[in-house]
Amino acid sequence: MNTKIIIYSKTGNTLSVAERLSEAINAPIERVEAEDDNPNISHPVLTVTPAVDADHIVFASPVHGFQLAQIMRCYLEGLPDLSGKTVDLFITHAFPFCWMGGHMALRQMKKLVVKKNGKIKKVTCINWSRKREKTINDMIGG
Ligand SMILES: Cc1cc2nc3c(=O)[nH]c(=O)nc-3n(C[C@H](O)[C@H](O)[C@H](O)COP(=O)(O)O)c2cc1C
Repeated sequence: MNTKIIIYSKTGNTLSVAERLSEAINAPIERVEAEDDNPNISHPVLTVTPAVDADHIVFASPVHGFQLAQIMRCYLEGLPDLSGKTVDLFITHAFPFCWMGGHMALRQMKKLVVKKNGKIKKVTCINWSRKREKTINDMIGG
């Protein structure tokens, strides 16, 4: 089964986790990019939209304003059908608890992936300020 990691990362945290995962599972990373990555833009224009050309896809994003970053939301909304593919999700966030945006962002991601018929496997909420290393190691190891 081949895997691709598709992420949006504004300040590099999500990217740094994706790089560790990429090294561990030997999967490529592709980044979603927008014309302007101002998080307040509710309908960003995407300039790079990675193809979902693998059996297993890992989607990852930061939390912005208690929800999924708009750039990742737009990207997931525009995906083609994911039938037959399995999907892992992770988000990174900074506020002390996952209920301060992390859970909401993951719920949004799950809903969008399920709408495209993707089968969700593993879902991880990475809190940048608490137990980060353990969460990342558990995700990569498990
Ligand atoms: C505009 C903005 C809004 C944010 N809103 C939240 C939030 O609501 N909850 C939270 O836990 N972290 C929030 N954060 C922190 C980021 O989610 C966190 O630093 C994340 O790891 C950044 O990932 P990145 O470096 O891949 O962009 C916010 C950061 C920015 C820049």
